[in-house]
Amino acid sequence: MNELESLVDSARRAFGQAATPADLENAKAQFLGRSGRITEWMKGLSALGVDERKVQGAAINLAKQSIEQALQQRRQALADADLQAQLQAEALDVTLPGRRRGAGGLHPVSLTQERIEGIFGSMGFDVADGPEIETDWFNFTALNTPQDHPARSMHDTFYVEGGSAQAPNLLRTHTSPMQIRHAVQHVKHWRAVAGAPDPADALFGGPMPEIRVIAPGRTYRVDSDATHSPMFHQCEGLWIGRSISFKDLKFVFTDFCRTFFESDDLVLRFRPSFFPFTEPSAEIDIQFSSGPLAGRWLEVAGSGQVHPQVVRNMGLDPEQFIGFAFGMGLDRLTMLRYGVSDLRLFFDGDLRFLSQFE
Ligand code: PHE
Repeated sequence: MNELESLVDSARRAFGQAATPADLENAKAQFLGRSGRITEWMKGLSALGVDERKVQGAAINLAKQSIEQALQQRRQALADADLQAQLQAEALDVTLPGRRRGAGGLHPVSLTQERIEGIFGSMGFDVADGPEIETDWFNFTALNTPQDHPARSMHDTFYVEGGSAQAPNLLRTHTSPMQIRHAVQHVKHWRAVAGAPDPADALFGGPMPEIRVIAPGRTYRVDSDATHSPMFHQCEGLWIGRSISFKDLKFVFTDFCRTFFESDDLVLRFRPSFFPFTEPSAEIDIQFSSGPLAGRWLEVAGSGQVHPQVVRNMGLDPEQFIGFAFGMGLDRLTMLRYGVSDLRLFFDGDLRFLSQFE
C-alpha cells in the first residue's frame, strides 16, 4: 500500500470512529482542512517536475475524492442512526390494548348507608347531615348528659380546639347530637309558621308535622381493636309525634332489620339498658335463624323513648310531643351483612378487599 492509500485508509478509520457529527467534522479537518494532510500533499507538488507533478497530482486528487466519499458516507450513516434513535424513542405500539380506567365502586360502608337511606326513605324518613366537630352542648348536655354525668365516661372523647375551657369542642362521639340539631331546625320553622313566640318564651306545643329523620355519618371515640375503630359510622333515627311509642320503635326497627338483611325470620330482642337521653332505653340485638351466625345474639343499636328533658331541649313541649330514637352502628351492620370479621379491613384502603364489594 502506498502512502496515499494508507492516508485514505486512516481517514476512513478516523471517520468510522467519529460517534457524533461534531467528532466527524473534527476528523474531516485533519484530512481535508486548510492545513490538513491532503493540503500538505498538494504543497509538495511544487517541488516536482512537470511529468511527475501530473501523475502525483492525479493520485492526490483520487485520494481526496476517496476521503470525501468516505466522509459523505459516514455523515449519512450518523444521520440515519440519529433518525433511527429518534423513531425508537417516540415509538408507539398502536396494537397495545388501551389503558382501562377502573370504574371504581362504593365503599361497603357507603353501600350500607345507601341501603339504610333507601329503606328508611320508603318509611317516610328524611335524611339529615351534621357536623363532625360538635359542641359540648349538642354532643352531651342537650342530650341530658351534663358535665360530670357518669355516662360521659363511656365516651372516651377526642377534644379539639374551640368552645370554652370547661366545655371544649369535640369530635362527635355519636350521631345523637343530630336529634337536637334537626329537631331545633324543624321546630323553628313550624314555630314561625304558627306565629308562636321565641323558643326562650315557651316550649312549642302547636301544630307541626311529625319529625321523622335519620342522620348517618362519621363518629369518633378513643377505641381501637378488631371490632372498634377510633373513627366509625353510626346512623341516628328519630321519630317525634303526638303519640309515637315504643311499640312503633319495635315495629319500625324490626321491619328495617328484616329488609336490610333480607330475612323475614330474623328475630329482634330489646334488652333493657340505659342512655341519659332516652327513658326507657334498650339495646337492640338481632338473631339470624340460618347462616354462620345463626343462633347468636348480635347487638346492632341503642334505642329508647326520647327523654322529656331532651324533648324540651328540642324546643318542644313534652306533654304534647313524644317519640323514639335509635342509634345503630353502620360498620357493624356492614360486617354482619357481608360476613367480615375484622372492622379494620374497611379502613385499610386495600383494593383487593374493597373491590369485592363493587
Ligand atoms: N347514641 C347512643 C350510642 O352511641 C345510641 C343511642 C341512640 C341510644 C339513640 C338511644 C337512642 O351508644
